[in-house]
Amino acid sequence: MRDQAEKLRVLAKNLKHQVETEIKGIQKRTRIIAVTSGKGGVGKTNFTINFALALMALGQRVIILDADLGLANIDVMLGINPKYNLYHVLKGEKSIQDIIVPGPEGLLIIAGGSGIQEMANLRRWQVEQFLGKLEELEGMADILIIDTSAGLSRNVMSFVLAADEVIVITIPEPTAIADAYGLVKAMTAKKKHGEVHLVVNKVENAQEADITANKLSIVAERFLKLNIGHLGFILDDPNVSKAVKSQAPFLLKYPKSSATVCVKKLAAHMLEKEFNPEPSGVKAFFGKIAKLFG
Ligand SMILES: Nc1ncnc2c1ncn2[C@@H]1O[C@H](COP(=O)(O)OP(=O)(O)OP(=O)(O)O)[C@@H](O)[C@H]1O
Ligand SMILES: [Mg+2]
Repeated sequence: MRDQAEKLRVLAKNLKHQVETEIKGIQKRTRIIAVTSGKGGVGKTNFTINFALALMALGQRVIILDADLGLANIDVMLGINPKYNLYHVLKGEKSIQDIIVPGPEGLLIIAGGSGIQEMANLRRWQVEQFLGKLEELEGMADILIIDTSAGLSRNVMSFVLAADEVIVITIPEPTAIADAYGLVKAMTAKKKHGEVHLVVNKVENAQEADITANKLSIVAERFLKLNIGHLGFILDDPNVSKAVKSQAPFLLKYPKSSATVCVKKLAAHMLEKEFNPEPSGVKAFFGKIAKLFG
């Protein structure tokens, strides 16, 4: 019951915001950001949740799409249990509104489940119908953040190539840096992808982050002609793991911790960056994914 009431409150708030912005005539389309990494376990899911909360604290309406089919992801980290996911929308059993689960502080979460993969098995008109439903997300959120799996699978690459922007997470270890390079290399092998931002996680200090970011950006510049923006870093902080164990975001559980301070800075940096999207949007985004899968 509490869940339902909270969900209604959040949806009402979103609707109010939508109406207000439409009246003011400043309706902007949803900014779609994929969070990914070459190597697994470098902190994508922790980053996604806490970055989303930091963006919300700066006045953004944020929806997270959990696109990782692996275990221990957004739901486990927040102690929530989404009953339905995009698969149920695709099958026509649920609407988008039905599958949205409220997280802390009004954060909205959607589980991808096998819905995305299943698009490959649909007929053209069924894909169109599904995309029409996904269009509802436009206007519900200023930012859609997608937590992907690690690596170069078709699933991950589809999200990465379709998103407006990509945040690549790495840690300072050589294996993680090499895998991050492999990922951006695979991205540049395809013609089109969004702007790439780098976040260096679990660093001892700012200098270690700079050294790591430079290693990657120099080779990317030289061999791939790719410019990687260094969005910033997150310090190695024992409170991150403590927060995970209590299934609460560190940003809320440890608001003064060093990881929290870092993530707040990253959110502010992200909003400072100019965002001049093509006039497409959520529907076009999933349309591209359907194509990449088809
Ligand atoms: N800044 C940090 N300081 C200390 N520990 C961290 C930090 N960021 C992440 N961790 C720890 O790293 C581990 C992996 O984090 P997380 O699950 O977010 O990674 P992931 O990239 O999403 O993993 P996967 O690839 O399996 O989805 C967690 O145990 C978390 O506690
Ligand atoms: Mg994860």
